[in-house]
Amino acid sequence: MSKKANTFQTPIGTKDLLPGESARWNEATRQLGRIAERFGFSLIDTPIFEDVGVFSRIGEGTDVVGKEMYEFLDRGDRAMALRPEGTAAICRAFVQHRPLTPWKVYYTGPYFRYEAPQAGRFRQFHQYGVEAIGSDDPDIDVEVIALAWNVLQGAGLRETQLLLNSMGDPETKSRYQESLGEFLLNRLEEIDPADREKAKTHPLRALDSKREATLAVVSEAPLITEYLSTDAERHFDRVASGLKALNIPFALEPKLVRGLDYYTHTTFEFQSLALENAQNTVCGGGRYNGLVEQLGGPATPGIGFALGIERLLLACDAEGSFPSPPTTTEVWVIDVTDGSSARDLTNSLREAGIAADRSFDQRSMRSQMRSADRSGAAIALIVGEQELSESVVTLRKLRDDEADQISIPRSDIVNEVRLILGLES
Ligand code: HAM
Repeated sequence: MSKKANTFQTPIGTKDLLPGESARWNEATRQLGRIAERFGFSLIDTPIFEDVGVFSRIGEGTDVVGKEMYEFLDRGDRAMALRPEGTAAICRAFVQHRPLTPWKVYYTGPYFRYEAPQAGRFRQFHQYGVEAIGSDDPDIDVEVIALAWNVLQGAGLRETQLLLNSMGDPETKSRYQESLGEFLLNRLEEIDPADREKAKTHPLRALDSKREATLAVVSEAPLITEYLSTDAERHFDRVASGLKALNIPFALEPKLVRGLDYYTHTTFEFQSLALENAQNTVCGGGRYNGLVEQLGGPATPGIGFALGIERLLLACDAEGSFPSPPTTTEVWVIDVTDGSSARDLTNSLREAGIAADRSFDQRSMRSQMRSADRSGAAIALIVGEQELSESVVTLRKLRDDEADQISIPRSDIVNEVRLILGLES
């Protein structure tokens, strides 16, 4: 009786990052880290799971917490969640470690949301984000936005637009929420039935709707900018003038609310005009002046953003920017004797800081040559019986049109390779 073997696939909404793609990914995350460090941010890494309470502060009424969180009881019956975002976890770390302020940190890693997967929307995705905790200065808002702008420019993206809004202080927000709620309640019949519950319970969320009927009502709704207190307005004006001073183009979008409840004052998004509407937000962030306190710390302001790395690379694909970096292998060692020369030469090259590789399993010369070509290496080093007996190595430059070969004493080979690759000897 034949039994069908189990074959497993990646879980829905997740994907494998395979060699090929991974080189580009690696390069992207390295560049992102370098930019954050140039702005004075240091790397932070927090656990992938936390006490579920850390994330409930994002807002019970948000989809991220209410519908999409991966929650589980661990074997000790503790309620845990896979992190759906980074900000709440970083604030938890701030409260736990009480660092000096402003605390400027950046992070990158996997995040989890049980969403309906589609292009640019996954259940496990990766964010790169920064948080600056402990300063109320609007110039730090400008710095954080400028960092995001630098990242997008550095990736070669030209078709992005920065949308900017202010949620004001908590009083502004609750006054606005109240009048928006009233407005939506009066027009409930005109709102798309799928959005009515949201309009009643979380009116701000209705502003996020992509449904036509709701959008029509929302287009006539009151704007938060009309409700800003004098202080909130002053903060917002300083942010706007800072962006102008740094030549960062932006558009005011008073209906920009973002999908998380913790925002106060500045909120912003970078959208890619080269991507489909539903997944065109590459990066989003803002201030969250109440979050640290909600997590048990002293009243402390904060601001940050997160960028979806998959979305960033999708936007790069759409604009034809940020190609895969060139191959890392510099030298391929071909050994058609018993493999000992390949073993020893790759080792010497690697010890000298040169990326070297080889074939295994005593392949034929042709097969090893093919591997060398495929690897993208600049140089092939060849050892056959003759080279072995004369203590030499045949060196062939693979990227030159004429395949000229030179014979080099084995004792000089590492230096010779370093010279050819332009590494000082
Ligand atoms: P968010 O808007 O929920 O904000 O997510 C930030 C970015 O993560 C999005 O703009 C998008 O590029 C990416 N992203 C979100 N969900 C998915 C998904 N399911 N698949 C692929 N990419 C996704 C936050 O997470 C806040 N913590 C940002 C922040 C930091 N605010 C202040 N500091």
